[in-house]
Formats: sequence, C-alpha cells, structure tokens
Amino acid sequence: MKILNELYAGKAKTVYETDDSERLVLRFRDDTSAFDGAKIEQLARKGMVNNRTNAFIMEKLEAAGIVTHFDRLLSANEAVVKRLDMIPIECVVRNISSGSICKRLGVEEGLTLLPPTFEFFLKDDARHDPMVNEFHIRSFGWASEDEVAAMKTQTFAVNDCLKALFAEAGLLLVDYKLEFGRYQGDVVLGDEFTADGCRLWDAKTREKLDKDRFRQGLGGVVEAYEEVAHRLGVDLD
Ligand code: ATP
Ligand code: TYD
Repeated sequence: MKILNELYAGKAKTVYETDDSERLVLRFRDDTSAFDGAKIEQLARKGMVNNRTNAFIMEKLEAAGIVTHFDRLLSANEAVVKRLDMIPIECVVRNISSGSICKRLGVEEGLTLLPPTFEFFLKDDARHDPMVNEFHIRSFGWASEDEVAAMKTQTFAVNDCLKALFAEAGLLLVDYKLEFGRYQGDVVLGDEFTADGCRLWDAKTREKLDKDRFRQGLGGVVEAYEEVAHRLGVDLD
C-alpha cells in the first residue's frame, strides 16, 4: 500500500490518503493534548503503544460482532482503516462518575452509575465540544434518527465487551468516547480505543492509568499506558 497526501492532522493522529480510495492510514503520533489542545506535549513511545493497544482492542470488538474501521496494522505506529464519512458527534458512556460530569452536575467522583449513563457531544474544539441531545443531532442534520440509534446501540455494545475485557485485566472501565462514520450505508465505529480516549482505573486501588495522568500532571503517563497494554496481553515489541 502506498501512502499519498496528508488528509488531516488531528491532535494525536495524522490521517493519510492511500492508493486505495477506500482505505486511509492513521499514524499515531507521540503528541498528547488536553483541554481542547491548550496543553500539548510529546511523550516518547505513546504513538506505538496506542497503535498496538488499539489494534488489539479493535480485534476484540470485531470478534464480539462490532463492525469497526480497523483493517490491519501497517507498522509500529501506523494502521490501515476503512475510509469513513465521519459523523461530527462524540458518544460517551460512563460507568463511574469522573471528569466533566462531576463539574457539570456537582456530583462526586467515583460513583457507580447504574444504568451506565450516555451523552452526546458535538465535535467542535473551538466551542469546547458542547453537549447536545438527539434532537439537536437530527434537527441540524448531523445524523439521522437511525444513525443516532445505531451509534447508541454500538457504543453500549462496546461497553459490554470492554468492561469484561478490562475487568479480566484488573481494570475498571470508568468512561470512554467514541466516534462513528458512514461506510457503504452502515454506521461503523471510526475511532481509536486507547487510554487517550477513556478512563481506566486499577480495580483494587483505583489508581488512574489513563490520560488523566497527563491532564492532572500526575506523571508516568506512558508507563501507565504500557501497564494497561501489559495487563491486556498486548504485544508491544
Ligand atoms: P479527538 O478525536 O481526540 O477529538 P482529533 O479530532 O484531533 O481529536 P485525532 O485522533 O488526532 O483526532 O485525528 C484523527 C482524525 O481522523 C479525526 O478527526 C477523525 O474524525 C478522523 N478519522 C479517524 N478515523 C477515520 C476514518 N476511518 N475515516 C475518516 N476519518 C477518520
Ligand atoms: P469528559 O469527562 O466528558 O471530559 P474531560 O475529558 O474534559 O474530563 O470525558 C469523558 C470521557 O470521554 C473521557 O474518558 C475522555 C473522553 N473524551 C475524549 O477523549 N475526547 C472528547 O472530546 C470528549 C468529550 C471526551
């Protein structure tokens, strides 16, 4: 496969067109950002750890019947994915309260949420990704009613699969964000699943092993991501 021009440089990944019009290459960079890009640092090895961890998780999701954009690993920090028409909406599921919901609703961190709660955000950094509801998404034409339903169903299906996978690794899946896109008439998961886009706590100590280490300046960010990969059984060599 030949990598052609750069299509888009996101905060943590660069997307390239390829000689296959249906496939893109994602390059996972070492850049780490928080607060809508206000805090950015380079963390050595992060691109590789995330690329390999993401591939491992995408394969678990596919095995559980969830269709994703993932095609194959291309190199240590690159993957081939299906080219999607992205829906500009972020889907968040929360099993335990943490992050923005605590500030927004004044609830304490660490409450178990039964049922797990669900939120939509508009993907718009300049407006700090405002929370939107299903009617906003349909009324402004960001996605249809059926697409909204599909995003919700698939985001919860990911929860069922990954809560169990992480539990076996001694980890609590606190919350996560997913994006979707259209591919040949279907709504397909079009995001990475790594410690950059979810919260993972040690099940016994509740130590944070995700991007909150970066957001909160706790240090040991990549070491925590490697610990997650190690516990899952991801091959990092
Ligand atoms: P974040 O997702 O954390 O808000 P970002 O938008 O800067 O940050 P990156 O992960 O750095 O995201 O960049 C990836 C970009 O590529 C995103 O805009 C995403 O929508 C897009 N993208 C990812 N997978 C696909 C795909 N399969 N087809 C088309 N675009 C994709
Ligand atoms: P949330 O608590 O809403 O935001 P914050 O990251 O500001 O604390 O995030 C919930 C989960 O979704 C968390 O694991 C981070 C992830 N997320 C992203 O990775 N990117 C985003 O743009 C959003 C809104 C959430």
